[in-house]
Amino acid sequence: MLVEIFPDYETLSERAYEIVATLIRRKPNCVLGFATGSTPLGLYRRLVEGYRRGELDFSKVVTFNLDEYVGLPPSHPQSYHHFMWENLFQHININPSNVHLPNGMVDDIEVHCDWYEEQIRRAGGIDLQILGIGPNGHLAFNEPGSSLGSRTRIKTLSQATRRANARFFGSEEAVPRHAITMGIGTIMEARRLLLLASGRAKARAVRAMLEGPISAMVSATIVQLHRYAHVLLDAEAASELAYNHHDGISEPFDVH
Ligand code: GLP
Repeated sequence: MLVEIFPDYETLSERAYEIVATLIRRKPNCVLGFATGSTPLGLYRRLVEGYRRGELDFSKVVTFNLDEYVGLPPSHPQSYHHFMWENLFQHININPSNVHLPNGMVDDIEVHCDWYEEQIRRAGGIDLQILGIGPNGHLAFNEPGSSLGSRTRIKTLSQATRRANARFFGSEEAVPRHAITMGIGTIMEARRLLLLASGRAKARAVRAMLEGPISAMVSATIVQLHRYAHVLLDAEAASELAYNHHDGISEPFDVH
């Protein structure tokens, strides 16, 4: 694992941009896994700026998002579909047919989830999966207790997650009860993981992820088993770590 700690959110986002931009330049038809939430917004803003400056071409990039709420149409302002178009896709030259998100409105969720997995396989797998982490240590919507071998499926959201996401919906009651999410097994098949965490509210989850035992109760701990997991933290998110992950010099050759 490579853990890098930055003084603040902006420097963390800058580093995330460097990593993603380098991949897009080296492999213009790369397959990127995108995440929602506030954490990757600094990265997405920089990707838009990079495109506008003419540094990045997304025309061959293929994308897969981690998750989507069940019952929200793509046009709903809180759907992850809407979030991605609003914050990234509509501002860059991505080919809409290369964009994949689970659809929370389908009749047969099981068939849809199998289809989603098949699309990832057909695209050749995900080159780089961007991840956030929930305050309870979840990845995507793999809530505590999720099988560490799980695939894309429907999950019931925990009360903690519905509470954490209530800020976007106005009230906890308005947060959907279910989501479709890539499984932990699906995420682990990505060739590289890039996990971003910022702010004190994530410090306990970050400690559990990096220093705790691997457990289905904290799905993010699975990154310890990934061959190419790269974790970017700001100082607040790193504030509860016991081991000083940064006392050596993090260089790409240390990786993983
Ligand atoms: C949601 C998403 C996760 C995300 C998490 C943290 O639960 N499903 O993918 O990592 O929120 O969001 P934020 O970055 O806003 O803290």
